[in-house]
Amino acid sequence: MTLNPFRPTAGAEPPQLIGRAGVLDEFEYGLRIRSGAPGLLTIFTGARGVGKTVMLGEAEDAARRAGWAVISETATRGFLGRIGAEMKRLIEELGAGPSIRRITGIGFGGFSVQTELAPEQQAGWRQLGEELLRLLDERGTGLVITLDEIHGADRDELAQLAASVQHFIRAGLPIALVFAGLPAAVSDLLDEGVATFLRRADRIDLHAATVDDVAASYLETFGTFEHPLPPTLVREAAEATGGFPFLIQLVGYHLWQVAETTPGPLSAAEVGVAIAAARRRNSRVVIDAALASASQKDLAFLRAMAVDDGPSKTADLGKRLGDPSNAIGNYRARLIDAGLIESAGRGLVDFAVPGLRERMRA
Ligand SMILES: Nc1ncnc2c1ncn2[C@@H]1O[C@H](COP(=O)(O)OP(=O)(O)OP(=O)(O)O)[C@@H](O)[C@H]1O
Ligand SMILES: [Mg+2]
Repeated sequence: MTLNPFRPTAGAEPPQLIGRAGVLDEFEYGLRIRSGAPGLLTIFTGARGVGKTVMLGEAEDAARRAGWAVISETATRGFLGRIGAEMKRLIEELGAGPSIRRITGIGFGGFSVQTELAPEQQAGWRQLGEELLRLLDERGTGLVITLDEIHGADRDELAQLAASVQHFIRAGLPIALVFAGLPAAVSDLLDEGVATFLRRADRIDLHAATVDDVAASYLETFGTFEHPLPPTLVREAAEATGGFPFLIQLVGYHLWQVAETTPGPLSAAEVGVAIAAARRRNSRVVIDAALASASQKDLAFLRAMAVDDGPSKTADLGKRLGDPSNAIGNYRARLIDAGLIESAGRGLVDFAVPGLRERMRA
């Protein structure tokens, strides 16, 4: 039996990218135009575990295939300095080292790694960027910067990055910026005007895949077993994932593991064991993280939702919580932004994280 292909780990590239056909089309189109195309500014948002980091990786792969240079960063403190250091390295790699000496504000240790750059350093950063982009432009390519977890970004640092990138774009230089973050962060950033020009970015909200797509993928993967999984059990496993990417990997992983130690074809009971193990792990990893930042009122709202078996009417939630409708509207918006719930049509909300309903009932 071949090695377990599933990757239930944050950011790991899955064996099959399910339900993301066409998502990068605008970005790839932009790579051909190289400057000023809308797809070159893209923001991925979505609930925890939905596959944001994976899409950044896909964008990076597409960029490398097109010959572009890639800088991949996470928005923890000092990312601007780290991007600057990487730009410097790329310039040297392109064989233009000596001209770096002309660039001010970088000093011996490179950039300071606090948060925002001091004015002199910012000027140096911009000069570095221009130098690198001109070198890449001459080669008919460009630079993609990906920045993950922008919900954690220092606002001033992000504003500096945005200002410089906007400057590059105005100069017609080949730069692309791809962000990923929780919906809350992105809405806030755009509303606060931290980086006004980011409002023009392509905002791509990632959602769960369809159960049918998961079933098709599982059928293919588990069809390679010596004793292929019967279609009804494949369907059951696919349904257990709810199309949620992290669960797709977890259920697949545990099924594979059970199959490795089972001599004959898998029974319904064995599939059930794998699904239960996947759910437990999902609960530990995703739900705990998602709930960590929820307030008491948020939790009360979620518990009121868990009374329903499907989408909840906001009017019913108001009654259950005894709250006026404007307060309900606030919590609804907060929880949607936190990626915990999502709108399910007019006046309806539903859980956005699989297993959360069950957890709120416990
Ligand atoms: N389209 C997809 N098809 C199948 N599996 C996927 C897909 N996208 C992501 N995954 C899997 O889902 C899991 C979570 O992916 P990823 O870490 O990219 O999510 P995320 O949205 O960045 O999560 P977080 O909010 O915690 O950072 C990984 O195990 C990954 O392999
Ligand atoms: Mg991520």
